[in-house]
Amino acid sequence: MNIRPVRQIVPALGTSDGAGVSLRRSIGTPALKHLDPFLMLDHFGSDKPDDYIAGFPDHPHRGFITFTYMLDGHMEHRDSMGNRGDLRAGGAQWMKAASGVIHSEMPRQVDGLMRGFQLWINLPAAQKMSDPDYQEFTPAGIPEVEAEGERVRVLAGEHKGVAGAVRDPNTDVLYLDVSLSAGMTFERPVPAGHNAFTYLYEGDGAVADRPLAAYHLAVLGPGDGFALTAGRAGARFILVAGRPIGEPIVQYGPFVMNTREEIEQAINDYRDGRLVRVRAQMHGA
Ligand code: CO
Repeated sequence: MNIRPVRQIVPALGTSDGAGVSLRRSIGTPALKHLDPFLMLDHFGSDKPDDYIAGFPDHPHRGFITFTYMLDGHMEHRDSMGNRGDLRAGGAQWMKAASGVIHSEMPRQVDGLMRGFQLWINLPAAQKMSDPDYQEFTPAGIPEVEAEGERVRVLAGEHKGVAGAVRDPNTDVLYLDVSLSAGMTFERPVPAGHNAFTYLYEGDGAVADRPLAAYHLAVLGPGDGFALTAGRAGARFILVAGRPIGEPIVQYGPFVMNTREEIEQAINDYRDGRLVRVRAQMHGA
């Protein structure tokens, strides 16, 4: 295995979104606009209700997938497909907005810790105006693989022969949440042609001998393997990889298309109440 070096380290930037939710953004910032097929990575995490209580009231999406993973806390999701999601600590939600979804994501707690990630995954042109889709997974619905000093939650893709909760046919996304004991090394293959990153959210560590602190994202360089060694307090991180789409990206807020004309269409459709074309039924675990 040829361990991939670190190509770039991106400190997450403090920002706010929704109705004033504090979060840390790494992909989707000036330092790292996109990492094809990934458009954005937000890490929300606070035990101060003022940082999250206003939530994300109704807002639109078109042209991509939102993938939400809850580490702590409780959120309720409602969308234009008629889904009512109950997102709890350890659970995940995969929402293919595609041709158009309007949804809200609101806290179902008034105090305590709220922590998790939202990753935006782009869709190829041929899928952008396809029907929306939705899958939700309870904490027990996320497979776990344990080995000495490590616990791996397989959100998407595959780890040691265990299939993850989500299968993404477009970009073959791998999404693992790894807890690693102090001094231990986690190592596994990552396809050479896929863009890949790791984001460390607890403790510290080193990726291919490059130190990585909490709230920092490391973009991986060429190679076909990944290795991270945890520091003295251990490490918790996500490892994400996907096949790049290689198409033009034109983004305007929550709309991500291939051309300016398609963006104008999305804005007009939203304004005229035509963004939501399809109301589908929920499925999944
Ligand atoms: Co949203």
